[in-house]
Amino acid sequence: MAMRILLTGGAGFIGSHVCDRLLARGDEVVVLDNLDDYYDPAIKRRNLRDARSRDGFTFIEGDIRDGELLGRIGRTHALDGIIHLAARAGVRPSIEQPTLYNDVNLVGTSRMLELARDFTIGNFVFASSSSVYGEREETPFRETDPVDHPVSPYAATKKAGELLCHSFHHLFQLPVACLRFFTVYGPRQRPEMAIHRFTRRIEAGETIPLFGDGSSLRDYTYIDDIVAGVLASLDRNEGFEVYNLGNHRMVSLSELVSAIGHALGREPIIERHPSQPGDVSRTCAEISHAREQLGYEPETPLEVGLARFVEWYRTIGPPEPREERA
Ligand SMILES: NC(=O)c1ccc[n+]([C@@H]2O[C@H](COP(=O)([O-])OP(=O)(O)OC[C@H]3O[C@@H](n4cnc5c(N)ncnc54)[C@H](O)[C@@H]3O)[C@@H](O)[C@H]2O)c1
Repeated sequence: MAMRILLTGGAGFIGSHVCDRLLARGDEVVVLDNLDDYYDPAIKRRNLRDARSRDGFTFIEGDIRDGELLGRIGRTHALDGIIHLAARAGVRPSIEQPTLYNDVNLVGTSRMLELARDFTIGNFVFASSSSVYGEREETPFRETDPVDHPVSPYAATKKAGELLCHSFHHLFQLPVACLRFFTVYGPRQRPEMAIHRFTRRIEAGETIPLFGDGSSLRDYTYIDDIVAGVLASLDRNEGFEVYNLGNHRMVSLSELVSAIGHALGREPIIERHPSQPGDVSRTCAEISHAREQLGYEPETPLEVGLARFVEWYRTIGPPEPREERA
């Protein structure tokens, strides 16, 4: 049965893909996004270009911290669920602006949970992150592992967000799924994320500043696999659950750079720098919980995902700053 979903952060990278998929299967989507300037808002408007022409789509430009606005949204739209993706994302800037991160990620999440409580919206999906695992030697990471030692303010806000979600589940029986995304990539990836940044520089014949010795390991997850996990968690949301959504494969930074070079057909030129604070040395998701409960099965190998990313990258051109606001 079709649902009406409030999707926060729906103009962003992951959110706009979730939006497209929900609309394609016949759900109604109300996107709430303030088009913040973490990166060019014109890119976010472009992300929603296809969605705008589809039935069942509403865009509200506004802030997840604005309680009055949320009250109006709750009264106007009979919502069946909330997918809460809006956040300040990105580890390194959180070290510069921890209070801003706390404000958006925690006050914002608290407001969204209040909305769910006040309008008895019985389905809440929260975007958490693999960064909650902090610096760990042992892989893969399991949802049952202790996550009490975040190494960036961003990671701390995501863990705290999970805790807030749990308290609302406990008090108001709100079904909540907290999804720990592992480095997501694909078309529309945020421009400051590694794959997008490296692609831009290799394509332009510029050097790539590589932090650390290239041996740091990441679990890179293709956007379509993440979206499938988000929708499955929405459709099967019961109780309180935490899920890793990853690809279950570690790739070193050096391997990643060569794979991007291969996808572009160009040789990357590397410039080495010391590792940066806040970055962890490895991530890898144990995904059996999501597999068993959600039928989650990542299907996109890195080479295939990178080829799709490069194909998209070469067709986008500059963003459209004058695209109309809804
Ligand atoms: N991309 C990844 O690899 C990754 C990994 C782990 C977790 N996550 C989480 O997934 C979610 C989506 O990430 P993304 O990569 O799509 O980021 P994104 O920056 O592209 O999307 C976030 C969206 O939230 C919006 N937003 C920010 N502050 C807001 C506010 N106060 N009110 C309303 N809207 C606001 C932004 O305008 C943006 O469109 C985030 O919660 C992020 O922390 C992402």
